[in-house]
Amino acid sequence: MKRKLTRKEFLTLTTQCAACAAAGVVGMSLIGREGKAQVELPPWPWPYKKLDPEYVRKLGHQGYWEKGYGCAYGAFRAIVVALREAVGYPYTLIPPEMMIWGHGGVVGWGGSCGALLGACAAINLVCDKQTADQLIHELQGWYTQALLPSDISNQYAQTGQFFVQKYTQPLPQNASGSPLCHISVTKWCEHSGFRASSLERKERCGRLTGDVAARAVELLNQWADGQFRGIYVPPESLATCLTCHGDKGMDNVKAKMNCVQCHTPHP
Ligand code: HEC
Ligand code: HEC
Repeated sequence: MKRKLTRKEFLTLTTQCAACAAAGVVGMSLIGREGKAQVELPPWPWPYKKLDPEYVRKLGHQGYWEKGYGCAYGAFRAIVVALREAVGYPYTLIPPEMMIWGHGGVVGWGGSCGALLGACAAINLVCDKQTADQLIHELQGWYTQALLPSDISNQYAQTGQFFVQKYTQPLPQNASGSPLCHISVTKWCEHSGFRASSLERKERCGRLTGDVAARAVELLNQWADGQFRGIYVPPESLATCLTCHGDKGMDNVKAKMNCVQCHTPHP
């Protein structure tokens, strides 16, 4: 049932969604079952425009701290906010709060690093499955090997270039070897001597959130230019273990994490 919007409905709609009105939403005149105006979303994947990784790094750090919503929100929001500014609609319609749950490896369980979850969700918003699989594989591999927080993040903190200033000293860096929050946080605590609930550890994850979002954008930019090629090389042991445990052998393991971080090799 289609009908024209009454003046009142139109005004309500445009006040509620000033950004879509400003962006000149086209498919926005359908009336839903309850008589409320609805907006039509474009088909997935959504349009991508190259972004500035350094701006996204600062947004990621800011989002981590903002409202205490943490890493997954921070990384996702950084990319979505930058896309809102670069593209506008439909990114104006997506609430970054939908990723809050990823904090601390999913509500503090120490599973997958939340900064990865947020950045990966953003990647998969703009890429088809095959592309997202490749970019996300690369991002996760990079995460396990990179010294984090990055030199750039440490510099931004020291020189007051982050949008939020909680702690301005450079922080110790290490490579986690794992995409898991628990391993990443605990190995960093061992390495740095800071406790898991310290301000320093939180700031470390804030800087890391920015670093992960920025790396995601670098990969997306490469892909947008047709220049993406993965450079991540997995640890050698992985292929060895999977010759027997992978799908061509006993087929009892489905994983790309570094096996020997948790298991001792057996004869
Ligand atoms: C030459 C084949 C082969 C390779 C290579 C291999 N495994 Fe195994 N693995 C086996 C077999 C066979 C078993 C015994 C299965 C059983 O008893 O049910 C086993 C058992 C295991 C077990 C469970 C039993 C235990 O020892 O606690 C783990 C964990 C394991 N492998 C991890 C690894 C890891 C990690 C690697 C790589 C560093 C690896 N495997 C490489 C063949 C292999
Ligand atoms: C983050 C830690 C972690 C990583 C990384 C990891 N595993 Fe495991 N794995 C475990 C845990 C925990 C179990 C379940 C407890 C157990 O049986 O040891 C397990 C179980 C297994 C088992 C069955 C053990 C049994 O008792 O029969 C095999 C085989 C195995 N893993 C192989 C691998 C291989 C191969 C890799 C690399 C692709 C790998 N794991 C990576 C933690 C890990």
